[in-house]
Amino acid sequence: MQKSKDSTWNHFLSISDISKDELIYLINLAKDFKKNIISQEFKKKVLGLIFNKASTRTRVSFQVAMSRLGGTTIDLNPNTSQIGRGEPIKDTARVLSRYCDVLAIRTFSQEELNEYAKWSTKPIINALTDIEHPCQVLADFLTIKEHFGDFNDLIFTYVGDGNNVANSLILASSLLGIELRIASPKNFEPNHEIIKKSFSLNPKNQLKITNNPVEAVTGANIIYTDVWSSMGQEENKEDKDNNFDGFTIDKNLVSFANEDFIVLHCLPAYRGKEITDEIMESHNSKIFDQAENRMHSQQALLSLLLSRTCK
Ligand code: CP
Ligand code: NVA
Repeated sequence: MQKSKDSTWNHFLSISDISKDELIYLINLAKDFKKNIISQEFKKKVLGLIFNKASTRTRVSFQVAMSRLGGTTIDLNPNTSQIGRGEPIKDTARVLSRYCDVLAIRTFSQEELNEYAKWSTKPIINALTDIEHPCQVLADFLTIKEHFGDFNDLIFTYVGDGNNVANSLILASSLLGIELRIASPKNFEPNHEIIKKSFSLNPKNQLKITNNPVEAVTGANIIYTDVWSSMGQEENKEDKDNNFDGFTIDKNLVSFANEDFIVLHCLPAYRGKEITDEIMESHNSKIFDQAENRMHSQQALLSLLLSRTCK
């Protein structure tokens, strides 16, 4: 496979850091890794993981992906390093990037991530912030491509909180030219700046935002949801849940979708809240393929970043 010619980025902080060609390149590379038709060796290369929030999939899929590439991972727990005691990011980033070849960081503010990127001499990967979850959507679009073969004429509907996952889906769908419909309760719509950015990435962007889940799901090929309260925003969880009445992915809501529809969820899921157990376990659910694809897509991402920086 040919590498995209305009591959110039070093950090993966946002989906908007990459072009449409690069996104497609990464998805295809991930497919090749999954099928075992390519292999790449990055012996002695080290991935550092700094996670300020809990994680199962992202942490483990990065560790396994790095090990499949022949490298190793260091799990840098902020509570047992000086990070948790407030050492400035500009010092931490300069030191860790002398030891590690790439760093994946999960934290709260996007600004904190940007500060790491400013001072690190090695690639920084966004492993989730309050604003974006770009690694997740690499796996999401790999899952969609596997299922539908291409991205043409698909209607993609996200139902739920206008959060980090929704934001990254907005940017990626805009790059790929996919019709994305977002149904969120009033006051829980996605970030305005992200919406603006999605139109600057692609003026023909087909994003539609509504407060009506039935309208959004009607004719959809892909139905996606995520938790109603993201990590770090759980203080008024019960109150917040009341606003999401009618936004559960259940048998009634999916009955409005196209007959070939699939259901996606980035996980972890709260059954009975944003999605029912019945739909999660149905044959339309590709949720566990999607979770597996985190590993293949991150293997592709690591391989691309390491091949550029570790000559
Ligand atoms: N989807 C996802 O990022 O899961 P984790 O929080 O378990 O990493
Ligand atoms: N929006 C969720 C995603 C978890 C993978 C959160 O930020 O908690």
